[in-house]
Amino acid sequence: MTASTESQRMEKIVSLCKRRGFIFQSSEIYGGLNGAWDYGPLGVELKRNLKNYWWRVMVHERDDVVGMDGAILTHPAVLKASGHVEGFSDPMVDCRTCKAHLRADQLVEKKGVKQCPNCGGKDLTEARQFNLMFETHVGASAEESSVAYLRPETAQSIFVQFKNILEVSRKKLPFGIAQIGKAFRNEINPRNFTFRSREFEQMELEYFCRPEQGMELLEYWKEERLKFYENIGLSRTNLHLLNVPDEERAFYSKGTYDIEYDFPFGRQELEGVAYRTDYDLSQHQKASNKSLEYFDDETKERFIPHVVEPSAGVDRTVLALICEAYVEDQAPNDKGEMETRTVLRFHPRMAPIKCAIFPLLKNKEPLVAKAKEIVGLLRPDMTVFYDESGAIGRRYRRQDEIGTPFGITVDFETLGERDPTLRDTVTLRDRDSMKQERVAIENLPAILRGRIA
Ligand code: GAP
Repeated sequence: MTASTESQRMEKIVSLCKRRGFIFQSSEIYGGLNGAWDYGPLGVELKRNLKNYWWRVMVHERDDVVGMDGAILTHPAVLKASGHVEGFSDPMVDCRTCKAHLRADQLVEKKGVKQCPNCGGKDLTEARQFNLMFETHVGASAEESSVAYLRPETAQSIFVQFKNILEVSRKKLPFGIAQIGKAFRNEINPRNFTFRSREFEQMELEYFCRPEQGMELLEYWKEERLKFYENIGLSRTNLHLLNVPDEERAFYSKGTYDIEYDFPFGRQELEGVAYRTDYDLSQHQKASNKSLEYFDDETKERFIPHVVEPSAGVDRTVLALICEAYVEDQAPNDKGEMETRTVLRFHPRMAPIKCAIFPLLKNKEPLVAKAKEIVGLLRPDMTVFYDESGAIGRRYRRQDEIGTPFGITVDFETLGERDPTLRDTVTLRDRDSMKQERVAIENLPAILRGRIA
């Protein structure tokens, strides 16, 4: 696809997200806050499905991982020890012509001369380091001593709580601590919709191990994480693995893979899987003067564990899910004429609404009553949506556009009016094939649970 069709595709995706209530610009009625986004009724369901599935796979289905939920406000000593206060910065350049603040790596170069990507201006300041952390003050006074930071990654609270969690969970190496939560970075140029935001969520696992297990576990987690993305519906052809070269890795990392995705705006990072060695725990042990060592009962050794970290972005993955799912195809309308249909082909596991339920006609009380009965039957197991307004074809289209994988229609056959053997059966429509099958109402919960799991 060409760059212009890809950018049109992205525009359509952004517009659908707003029109159908997935993602809105934050503070929109006041002109918007750059780099911040609000998730609407469907967006929040999609995001929750993603986070719940990550938690299920990374914590609940494993014996070797426990979870935690740390504070966002962070003591400056933590981020001094981790190196963020000194070094968590991007080189920034100002354009003197249009006054834009730019990340130095976003300048365009023409005939060997660096230019502003906005106005083409060549009058640029020297690059200077801009720290990406949001600083705030705790308590009533705004002095040096009251400074705290909004965490730039969830990982640090895991390192700082390592000893407490080791003691209470009584885990043996290798074991992991998982966390999902907000992180904040004052990005110089938030862009590409939610891709680079100033407030976002991370899903991070710190998997602690013996030093000699580090490289092998890096390979293990890279494979596990690729499987995860396929299991939520991203196709393997759109996923790529970048083995980050030595010179681009953090100095303490012995190996890092970036898992990348082909977004309409280019191939970009979804997740980093990094072998961080014992850097973080050693730094915190040194700075806090508290032992963060592990005692191995069998070998009687005491040492600081190494760590492998798969770190994923919730918002980026939600965006990848929407981009992957967005399809325009052809479908017949109520008159049987083919027309363009917009459909989000979410994996049923991720779909915000699993099943829509329609009475064929809204003014036929027995149809409505049966449809509402089915709503009650399915609701304990899944998100459902009841819709009685408009022609049935239009109701299907509205659900296709938000990615609802299954549609149930209650018709006169359901009431047994024409053929008593069809009493208490409904049509079950598949969003992607648009095929319909006749299913007994009592079998619906088991059939749908099986297809969604
Ligand atoms: N603890 C390691 C760490 O934070 P990172 O590569 O800086 O590593 C991990 O971030 C993930 O967090 C990224 O792969 C991305 O998915 C997400 N992320 C980072 N910065 C982001 C931003 N400004 N907006 C949205 N997601 C972001």
